[in-house]
Amino acid sequence: MRAKARAHTNIALIKYWGKRDEKLFLPTNNSLSMTLDKLYTDTSVEFNSELTEDQFVLDGETMDVEETTKVSQFLDKVRAFTGEKRFALVDSVNHVPIAAGFASSASGLAALAAAAMKASGVDFSEKDLSRMARQGSGSASRSIYGGFVEWQMGELADGSDSHAVPILPQDAWDLRVLSVEVTHEVKKVLSREGMKRTVETSPFFDGWLKAVAADLVEAKRAIEARDFTLLGETLERNALRMHATTLGANPPFMYWQSSTVKVMEAVQELREQGIEGYFTIDAGPNVKVVCQPDQEQKILDALNEIDVVQNIYPCKIGPGITYLDE
Ligand code: PMV
Repeated sequence: MRAKARAHTNIALIKYWGKRDEKLFLPTNNSLSMTLDKLYTDTSVEFNSELTEDQFVLDGETMDVEETTKVSQFLDKVRAFTGEKRFALVDSVNHVPIAAGFASSASGLAALAAAAMKASGVDFSEKDLSRMARQGSGSASRSIYGGFVEWQMGELADGSDSHAVPILPQDAWDLRVLSVEVTHEVKKVLSREGMKRTVETSPFFDGWLKAVAADLVEAKRAIEARDFTLLGETLERNALRMHATTLGANPPFMYWQSSTVKVMEAVQELREQGIEGYFTIDAGPNVKVVCQPDQEQKILDALNEIDVVQNIYPCKIGPGITYLDE
């Protein structure tokens, strides 16, 4: 059986930062994201009884043992859920600059989960799929849905209530995201390691947990009322709070480079001139700027003037998982 799925990446407005269970990928807080239209991954999975091991092809290249093992370990979770026994050929094409902080893991793992579940031929719900994608990469749980999405952390030890839910459809509020690339460098502290170190050693982590709960309430209120200023102020503050926890870790670390700060300052200066955009940053040096359609071009032009800016990928709000015919 063979199936092909497309999953779009997402940008968290309220960040997932911290796990309470490393193995099951259970978070310490709810998070909230927007799915993006231009950055996505297409993945096909074929379970085949003639294969003697899993094979993984990424962007046309057969991957080495290390990369293939990661995919294989995730496929083992799908096989345990579906009863599928065969090995698989996985063929993936990324339309995301990998490891540049553009959350390629979200679209990659969501597409892999969807194609593998479908190819196994069993019935499954979107909740099942979100729970499965979560166990590949937490942020992938949110890429199952389009529009605005909340990942509810759940309470149960087995993770069965920890999955994403859609909170506003793709076309309900037209916001834009400019993904600003300041470096192609691969990140130094992967999100998985960064979160773990923060949870275990940062005295600021307790403060984060208190703050994130309040930020989530504000963000949901803003989305409900389509209040862009409230949403923007909340998302920028939440990103800064997340990054503050890393400075308190031991050993401390930070995802920003001087170029990151230059873009952050530019966004704040634009606001002083009445051009309203707000930044957010994930586990890497690149910056995403959220704005309304009528300000997008002005912000794009201004950011393009900054010497450290290498590329800008303008996005609209995107759809959830789609299955592709071949
Ligand atoms: O699930 P991961 O490993 O892609 O971690 C995501 C962590 C952040 O991007 C920093 C926040 C988020 O909610 O996406």
